[in-house]
Amino acid sequence: MKSGTKLNLGILVDPHGNHPAAWLHHEAVLGAEIDARYYLQLAQKAEQGLFDFLFIADSPGLRQGNIQAFKRWPVYMAQFEPVTVLSALSMVTERLGLAATVSTSYFEPFNLARQFASLDHLSGGRSAWNVVTTTNPSAGKNFGREHFEDHATRYRRAREFLQIALGLWDSWDDDAFVRNAKTVEYFDPDKLHTLGHKGEFYSVRGPLDVPRPPQGRPVIIQAGGSDAGRELAAETAEVVFCGERTFEAAKSFRADVHQRMARYGRSPDELKSLANLTTVIGRTQAEAEEHFEFLQAKIHPDVGREAISIDTGYIDLSQVPIDQSIPPSVFPEDTERSKTYMKLVKDIAADGNPTLEEVYRRYAPSRGGLLFVGTASQAVELMGDWFTGGAADGFILTPASLPTELNKFVDLVVPELQKRGLFRTEYEGKTLRENLHLRRPKSRYA
Ligand SMILES: Cc1cc2nc3c(=O)[nH]c(=O)nc-3n(C[C@H](O)[C@H](O)[C@H](O)COP(=O)(O)O)c2cc1C
Repeated sequence: MKSGTKLNLGILVDPHGNHPAAWLHHEAVLGAEIDARYYLQLAQKAEQGLFDFLFIADSPGLRQGNIQAFKRWPVYMAQFEPVTVLSALSMVTERLGLAATVSTSYFEPFNLARQFASLDHLSGGRSAWNVVTTTNPSAGKNFGREHFEDHATRYRRAREFLQIALGLWDSWDDDAFVRNAKTVEYFDPDKLHTLGHKGEFYSVRGPLDVPRPPQGRPVIIQAGGSDAGRELAAETAEVVFCGERTFEAAKSFRADVHQRMARYGRSPDELKSLANLTTVIGRTQAEAEEHFEFLQAKIHPDVGREAISIDTGYIDLSQVPIDQSIPPSVFPEDTERSKTYMKLVKDIAADGNPTLEEVYRRYAPSRGGLLFVGTASQAVELMGDWFTGGAADGFILTPASLPTELNKFVDLVVPELQKRGLFRTEYEGKTLRENLHLRRPKSRYA
């Protein structure tokens, strides 16, 4: 199968799904966040559906904000550490890629390189790392950082962090380990390289104590939509998550990152832009809408306020009644947190003078992404249009509720995608790179 002829699919696993009220659905598994068997079942379902990868998002610290709202919206409040759970999943899956966010602001590059090199070996070449700078200011307090770094500094740090990790993964040449009992040589010292990095934020000598990963290095993912995020994606990412909500915006996002890639001597086929798609699938339109309305009706006003507040720099909406519009003056001009999410909220609030309740009902179910509520064939229509029209190379699915929406996607949408020739009927390769049609990078010392 040639690259670019079929779309690629990842699934983001928040334990109960992406909708703030997902855990209140009758099919939700309470306690899912620490249930290994639950993760195993999701992974096996995703693999049955021939997904490229399963992805676990992360922020290393509880969210900061209104705890009375979070008690009704528990995402990121109780969870597994992502690389740990992926390591377990690597033992019970064969082809599914295993992706996780690790923060460049609060980890050390050496630890990260070691963890992902290990995961890549454990899984036989199926690991991917989502490079995220972390927008949650309270995370820093877990790492001795009293002050939240500004956006530009976080991205400068991320770039240096990434360059170190890439260097460390090249510590050993692919054929460095000869393991020759006759000559009594386990490895060839000439094939070992010391990085010797000294930069603005880090000093890392290396080398790494893990042989070169099967994929050369994990697949690199990037998800920041700001100018700095796009630039980092253009320089190094192989998958980028696109949080745009319209065809035109996603198409121009993809074209913009492609055009930036030229600066780094990279060609567009070295990057897959996956649009963030939240799904609610029904056997009929009415069934899908009924499910969606069930979830929407369960968004508590405190949760709705909080969803807007945390993504716009903790603005105080406690005094705004839900049947009134949000005064534009409460929004700051700019934010040091997520520029992408803040723009999205502001755009929704400015579109037709909606009430606070209307804003959170439009924003909270999919946050940075496109919301789809309808039948499988309508979903395939939409996905096909975005794919063939150049708005996306595929989708990062953020199902409204789990496990319900993953099951429906695999049972109803995947066969329809296959029937229309838009999606694979079997895995093409063994490694995630092979399935994404990404080349295995040569070592910088080769
Ligand atoms: C599909 C998807 C997954 C994301 N996963 C994470 C995550 O795990 N952790 C996180 O802090 N941010 C996550 N983000 C948010 C962005 O990575 C980014 O941190 C945020 O948009 C701020 O960057 P920006 O100002 O460059 O947009 C995700 C975004 C999308 C669209």
